[in-house]
Amino acid sequence: MQVPDYKLARKRTKDEVLIRDFKIDKSLLKLGVNKKYFIKTYGCQMNEHDSENIKGMLNLMKFEETDNMEDADFIILNTCSIRENAHNKAFGMLGRIKHIKDNKPNLIVALCGCMAQEEGVVSEIIKKYNYVNFVFGTHNLDELPDLLQKSFYDSKLNVDVISCEGNIIEDMPVLRDNKYKAYVNIIYGCDKFCTYCIVPYTRGKQRSRRKEDIIKEVKELVKDGYQEVTLLGQNVNAYGKDLYDDYDLASLLVDVSKTKIPRIRFITSHPWDFTDSLIDVIKNHDNIVKFVHLPVQSGSTKILKQMGRRYTKESYIELFDKLKKIDGISITTDIIVGFPGETEDDFQDTLDLVNYCKFDGAFTFIYSPRENTPASVLKDNVTLEEKEQRLYKLNELVNKYSLESNKRMLNNNYKVLVEGESSKKGMLFGYTETNKLVNFKGNMDSIGKIVSVKIIDAKSFSLDGEIVE
Ligand code: SAH
Ligand code: SF4
Ligand code: F3S
Repeated sequence: MQVPDYKLARKRTKDEVLIRDFKIDKSLLKLGVNKKYFIKTYGCQMNEHDSENIKGMLNLMKFEETDNMEDADFIILNTCSIRENAHNKAFGMLGRIKHIKDNKPNLIVALCGCMAQEEGVVSEIIKKYNYVNFVFGTHNLDELPDLLQKSFYDSKLNVDVISCEGNIIEDMPVLRDNKYKAYVNIIYGCDKFCTYCIVPYTRGKQRSRRKEDIIKEVKELVKDGYQEVTLLGQNVNAYGKDLYDDYDLASLLVDVSKTKIPRIRFITSHPWDFTDSLIDVIKNHDNIVKFVHLPVQSGSTKILKQMGRRYTKESYIELFDKLKKIDGISITTDIIVGFPGETEDDFQDTLDLVNYCKFDGAFTFIYSPRENTPASVLKDNVTLEEKEQRLYKLNELVNKYSLESNKRMLNNNYKVLVEGESSKKGMLFGYTETNKLVNFKGNMDSIGKIVSVKIIDAKSFSLDGEIVE
């Protein structure tokens, strides 16, 4: 048994990152013949992409996916720790799985992802959920095949979680969820240690992938007909800093742009590392989308300081104004309400900032204390009722501006990557460069292509359009 250890997870040294290639023993390649798996993924795009790698490994071992839990021989939960409710969902799911396992003792159950990296979660699993077969963490995803094989002949709970600064595993098998757009990791982990956030403990130190590995992956995607890549990381703007003297996200974007993939996205950008050269690169390359997700978290400089965000309200606005000069740019954000010590005045600062920036969209959250983070020991004097009222008020404002932003698109033409049939009958759906969902009548053979669509109706969360011949 190897359980998570926060002291090791917090460590940051200048030691070189270990890069290893995925390997699988030949004897495991038929492990899944006639067996089905069910996977449930919580959390961010990084977790979604990890699940694509998990599916890739299971596919290699001949397991078949099912979307019916009751049908599965193997159930795997890829979990998220970011807020309490992510925890609750995963534990609730484990409760449901217990009922299935009661009637199906050979069912294999595994838990991985960020919750697996938490000391408290793992000790709870050991105590209360010992019908789980194995738990493995974010640093040893590639050990899944071996762990799975062991669980076939040893039914005892096996915890194999490594708490370390992190490594990089190349050449992971992948089964992508989408045929037209793909996630590509460019940087793992996070060294920002915002005081409320658990990610630096669950994902390890900030470590960039080698540029040649990234470019190779994108070139293969182009060959396979992909139309869009999203370059992924908790803080993509820090790309290259740990690896190169003179090569950063701006340089990488230029190189990815040369692959001629029609659309390049990148998420998430921390305002701290947003350089002028990066702004120029976004402006000057047609295949880099004019869309930036730029989490602000709060409009109060006092709260930002306590959050450890390394910028002020004013410096955020300065960067925002520079970005806004790019023609057609769309900027979205994340905001937390109810951070310990947030007064009405601080909250008003957040509303003022939203009124100034008029974001095209925003994800809003109530602060959730996380195990072992510095903020979790701060005195939290905001009541839940107040937090809920603030969230409600903020959401009203945020929704007003996203509707306004959508309405500004009316009667104009936009390029839409068509992804498939919409839930609305007889319609197709796709996304604009600025990541807006558009439903429109169209021909099935435009699926997988980028077409021009005129916007004819705008709602808060989607647009209706018609194809322009
Ligand atoms: N790396 C990204 C954010 C990743 S987490 C960045 O720094 O911008 C996604 C969002 O979850 C954060 O932007 C934040 O708004 C929210 N979040 C993180 N920890 C939280 C917590 N403890 N309580 C509530 N929201 C949180
Ligand atoms: Fe968390 Fe901050 Fe890192 Fe984002 S930058 S993942 S909020 S610690
Ligand atoms: Fe959640 Fe881990 Fe992502 S905590 S948001 S799955 S990095």
